[in-house]
Amino acid sequence: MNDAVKRHEYDVVVIGAGGAGLRAAIEASAMGVRTALICKSLLGKAHTVMAEGGIAAALGNVWKEDNWKVHFRDTMRGGKLLNHWRMAQIHAQEAPDRVLELEEWGALFDRTKDGLILQRDFGGHRYARLAHVGDRTGLEMIRTLQDHAVHRGIDVFMETTMFRLLTEDGRVSGAIGYDRQKGELALFHAKAVVLATGGVGKAWKVTSNSWEYTGDGFAMALEAGAELIDMEMTQFHPTGMVWPTSVRGLLVTEGVRGDGGTLKNANGERFMFKYIPEFFKAETADNEAEADRWYEDKTNRRTPDLLPRDEVARAINAEVKAGRGSPHGGVFLDIASRRSAEYIKRRLPSMYHQFMQLAGVDITKEAMEIGPTLHYIMGGVRVDPDSTQSTVPGLFAAGEVAAGMHGANRLGGNSLSDLLVFGRRAGLYAAEYAKRLARMPLLDEQQVSRRSQEILAPLERRGGENPYALHAELTDTMQDLVGIIRTADELRQALTRIDSLRTRAARCAVASGRVYNPSWHLALDLRTMLLCSEAVTRSALLREESRGGHTRDDYPKPDPDWGKKNVVTRLRDGQVELRTASLPEAPSELRALLGEEKPSAKVAVPAGAE
Ligand code: FUM
Repeated sequence: MNDAVKRHEYDVVVIGAGGAGLRAAIEASAMGVRTALICKSLLGKAHTVMAEGGIAAALGNVWKEDNWKVHFRDTMRGGKLLNHWRMAQIHAQEAPDRVLELEEWGALFDRTKDGLILQRDFGGHRYARLAHVGDRTGLEMIRTLQDHAVHRGIDVFMETTMFRLLTEDGRVSGAIGYDRQKGELALFHAKAVVLATGGVGKAWKVTSNSWEYTGDGFAMALEAGAELIDMEMTQFHPTGMVWPTSVRGLLVTEGVRGDGGTLKNANGERFMFKYIPEFFKAETADNEAEADRWYEDKTNRRTPDLLPRDEVARAINAEVKAGRGSPHGGVFLDIASRRSAEYIKRRLPSMYHQFMQLAGVDITKEAMEIGPTLHYIMGGVRVDPDSTQSTVPGLFAAGEVAAGMHGANRLGGNSLSDLLVFGRRAGLYAAEYAKRLARMPLLDEQQVSRRSQEILAPLERRGGENPYALHAELTDTMQDLVGIIRTADELRQALTRIDSLRTRAARCAVASGRVYNPSWHLALDLRTMLLCSEAVTRSALLREESRGGHTRDDYPKPDPDWGKKNVVTRLRDGQVELRTASLPEAPSELRALLGEEKPSAKVAVPAGAE
């Protein structure tokens, strides 16, 4: 077996080339350090494009009342106050500059009639706040960043999966993995590493994530000695397609509801009115328009269809359980009966074309059948809020792989702004760290050889377990037992199954041949998915309350004590170990911003909003 390793040397290596990775690499390279950008698939293919509806930033273009303080408050409240206050503050303060910078770099946003960047409504945001490009915002963001990065001459390594981080005396010295096309081992010797690897959606059966999202960064960070927090906080985006099966799990952007789409059950009822928080409850009129007016008067928000994602996903789940679901186990999302075909095609072109072409569903004429789809994980690598450095020196993390920013539930649109704000900071601080190091860290050749053998091991086994079969068992387990509604009993069952799957995964054997061998790649990805699944499930079992993306049927309410704690995961002697840590308390001036919103005088409908 040829275990030769192709070696590269850089100051900063960024693993992951979605929005956070690209932005980090651009910043590091602008700081004048040798920078490499590694992507698991082709440059431009990233989950970032699934954030379709927009980038949240308090630009104040549509509602002049908007500002960073309101954005901060919405983010903290949406996250059920489990967010790291400093990250939410930095994010709200810096997001507008990052959007304007993106525009300077060539992003073409939709405009108001006055020529400003147009902003749309999204769940949990007090004001229409999402700068957007139709329903292709993530795609436009990636296109812009990618052009900028390529123009800067950053070295990009495509089709390259990183498997393990390397360390010298507890600090990062690089990463090792393999080139998917040739099957060669690839080692990146580096002073600093930025993880921007996204989430772990592929551990669930119904997900908006594509094949790359197998939790590589979470696993690499844990194995290098870093801590993860709040892995139980998983986001089920309420509107993934459930039918036809050709598009199951595929995202229907929240922009559909932001632009007037409504949720209905099998009886044609706008059921979200039943799920609004207690103090807003009242007799609603039978007439839809009146009910909307009533809601807006009471709450100053446009529609209960745009409550935060965790609340909408739970409501859909409850309707289906109560027997009021659509024929294929979801509910209906209808924009056709409220908006013209011309409006839908102009505002939501990707939704229209995608579902027409892939599923034969014409959203200008009929309702979509939708249901929750695993979209995002709020938990992740514990980082310093300003520098994004993890607890391992030289290891930085940004984007979905990092935790803290979104607390227990992320607001839609806050992910694209998170990627830009903390991607830039990760690149900046990683470059500064690399500049401060007097010499390259030393490579431990025994580590290199051990990791190389681990990577090649599945190719050397014969007659073992099939990785595809094991992956299917894992996704069934996570979907059925670690889904939207959880119980201690089911979580324990999940842990037993994960444990047995881990034993079997260590015996995975794959077809021989290293050139483009997807079963070999999956055998390696299984290891990371299993580790992450265990971290999610154990954390979910420990947190005995319901909060945001984590709902326990046996502990159905938020518990104020748990609301002050992060669940911390780390590895000790290869075993997952959990503890709790106190959440840092926000300074009093920021706490004051979080008070209840007084239903103030209603602001005028914005000019030029469409
Ligand atoms: O619904 C969406 O367009 C997704 C946005 C996001 O996840 O931020």
